[in-house]
Amino acid sequence: MNMRIGWIGVGRMGYAMAERLAKAGGDITVWNRTRAKAEPLAASGAKVAAYVTDLAACDVVFVMVSAWKDVASVITGPSGLLSGATAAKPRLIVECSSISVDGSAQLRAALDERGIALLAAPVSGNAKVIKAGRLSFVCSGPRAAFDAALPLLRMIAPAASYVGEGELARIVKICHNVFLGVVTQSLAEITILAQKAGVPRHAFLSFINDSVMGSTFSRYKTPAFVNLDFKVTFTPHLLRKDMDLGLEAGRRFEVPMPLASLTRDAVQTMIGFGLADQDFAQLLVVVAKASGLALVPENVPVGDGLS
Ligand SMILES: NC(=O)c1ccc[n+]([C@@H]2O[C@H](COP(=O)([O-])OP(=O)(O)OC[C@H]3O[C@@H](n4cnc5c(N)ncnc54)[C@H](OP(=O)(O)O)[C@@H]3O)[C@@H](O)[C@H]2O)c1
Repeated sequence: MNMRIGWIGVGRMGYAMAERLAKAGGDITVWNRTRAKAEPLAASGAKVAAYVTDLAACDVVFVMVSAWKDVASVITGPSGLLSGATAAKPRLIVECSSISVDGSAQLRAALDERGIALLAAPVSGNAKVIKAGRLSFVCSGPRAAFDAALPLLRMIAPAASYVGEGELARIVKICHNVFLGVVTQSLAEITILAQKAGVPRHAFLSFINDSVMGSTFSRYKTPAFVNLDFKVTFTPHLLRKDMDLGLEAGRRFEVPMPLASLTRDAVQTMIGFGLADQDFAQLLVVVAKASGLALVPENVPVGDGLS
């Protein structure tokens, strides 16, 4: 527990995760490409590094950026973590971004050559879920790497599953996000259908949430669907990346995924409508437009099941 922890990437997810580690007393130094986003973490006890190479002397480095090309750039790129003049290097990298199996395997090979262990550790949950203490990790790689990281993972999230060697956690996370996309599109379609037939969205979702089909997810998206509170949690841009990773995996393993294909194009439509960096729950708005329905907030107090 005396480990020096480095943290790369404090976007929506990375910030909330690093904040939990800092508040739990972890000795953490953060670096973010846009430094201003990292600075408020100093109030929670984190140190802010000027250069990513400053983190090479840490024992463990967590990474939470966007896509595989970004992971490669911040770790093994020409100005990345391992590009410094000194021989300092972490013992373990815990890579949490949602990336492809192939990208993860390339990273593992590059780190193996340098004697650095890799734990693939993508997550389920958004920033609000992290703050509510409900995030979950799915991990793969050497069992010893998981055991070493577990005390730190537990400072961030109550749940961390180990699914085996290599890149298995990546495929689990890709499956999870295909499900997220398909469920969100389906929830948008049925909510608009119920509304056009005369049922207010809050009444419809209250029933769904209390039914056997309700879930943590349907509950925490209810304020967005009812009151059009579309604070950005996760973007169509990132969801399209995950749907594409799912469809690529479907081709590789020869699994037909018709629902995933349709949903991928629904997400693409959102992007074409200029909503790439909005919240993905605006899939509701796209379905409403396609149905000739002008959405207005219902202004009904509804819980999100988290707070
Ligand atoms: N949001 C969710 O609900 C959610 C849930 C589970 C998993 N995820 C996954 O978690 C990851 C992060 O998502 P997010 O929502 O936190 O994204 P985000 O808010 O867009 O943050 C992205 C972070 O990555 C950094 N970054 C991106 N490209 C970089 C590069 N080339 N070099 C250096 N830094 C770079 C950004 O730095 P700047 O600040 O300088 O731009 C920022 O810190 C993604 O892989 C996403 O798919 C997201």
